[in-house]
Amino acid sequence: MVTMNPTSQNPQVSKSPDLQINARILGIETSCDETAAAVIENGRLIISSLVASQVELHAQFGGVFPEVASRQHIRTIYPIVDTALQQAHLALSDLDAIAVTRGPGLPGSLVIGMNVAKGLALASGLPLIGINHLEAHIYSAWLHWPPVPNGARAGIQIEPEPRFPLLVLIVSGGHTELALMEDHLKYRRLGATLDDAAGEAFDKVARLIGLSYPGGPAIQKAAEEGNPKAFSFPRAWLEDTWNFSFSGLKTAVLREVRSLQKVRRDLPVADLAASFQEAVVDVLVGKTLQAADEFNAVEILVAGGVSANRALRAAIHTQAACQVHIPPLSLCTDNAAMIATAGYYRFLNGEHDGLDMDVLPNWPLSEL
Ligand code: KG4
Ligand code: ZN
Repeated sequence: MVTMNPTSQNPQVSKSPDLQINARILGIETSCDETAAAVIENGRLIISSLVASQVELHAQFGGVFPEVASRQHIRTIYPIVDTALQQAHLALSDLDAIAVTRGPGLPGSLVIGMNVAKGLALASGLPLIGINHLEAHIYSAWLHWPPVPNGARAGIQIEPEPRFPLLVLIVSGGHTELALMEDHLKYRRLGATLDDAAGEAFDKVARLIGLSYPGGPAIQKAAEEGNPKAFSFPRAWLEDTWNFSFSGLKTAVLREVRSLQKVRRDLPVADLAASFQEAVVDVLVGKTLQAADEFNAVEILVAGGVSANRALRAAIHTQAACQVHIPPLSLCTDNAAMIATAGYYRFLNGEHDGLDMDVLPNWPLSEL
């Protein structure tokens, strides 16, 4: 049962309760280096979800090359949207709204998804909803696939919906944010990183120790063979604030690498990876649990690319005294199902945007 703040920012949208609860939303995501489209129903059920990753294209540059990303989005976006509709066995006329990432993200990437979404909205007459990518990461924890009797997902339980007040940790390649979600669409920003995002720290440290891009999965894999106590890297607790900082940790790894390189040829990559990963996980989990306690959150939600990290998932599940929601692995990194589900809750709230909407490459959660 969905309970929503009844205030409508845009009363023109039809508000028939049946139509809205069963609404089918097309989501489009092109904020960084994944081209994605998805159709979801009832805010939670994934009918189709496709992600075309550009990871291999960017690996040669050691990070995302913005112009290459935009060009690749142009090539991929129409086939991806077509396939998402085909796999859902739906036409645009069967849908209720189109949700598209408006920001934050790379300007040249965002405009590709935005222009395609506007074209589809214009052609179909469907409402268009611009979505904040960080909010969408949070809503990825509401998603589930249709239950299936056989196959890889057989027997997977549908998680209960997160309950409010909910302590939210977003850890992605571009952001690390701690927020209190008091109800659907209502956020109180508690803190954020003062320098590198957690994912950015994984990517930069991976490069320092000779691992490939993206660094998060590479560090996780290397760390499995390493000793997390081999090096005692610093933890920036930033007492009395809910902020994070990872640049000192990155510099400490760099110093260690330089001094190791003076005395030996091969770096102890697994030990460096495991010790770095443990330092990041300690701070992320420690501050999230402290904040949940301080703000009387009843549950915790962790989302964003870094929430795919096995050590982080295990540590927070073990240490938290309350229910912790973390999306399934394939929904942690960028996808369009999360854009569609955030779009559903905005749609239910009576919101939509005009065809004059522009992208917002810097759009903090606090401005929602
Ligand atoms: O959310 P996301 O797909 O894109 C942004 O919105 O930024 O996050 C990508 C980030 C990258 O920095 C990547 O290294 C990191 O998530 N990441 C991980 C793991 N998988 C992806 N970090 C740690 N462990 C992982 N398993
Ligand atoms: Zn993301």
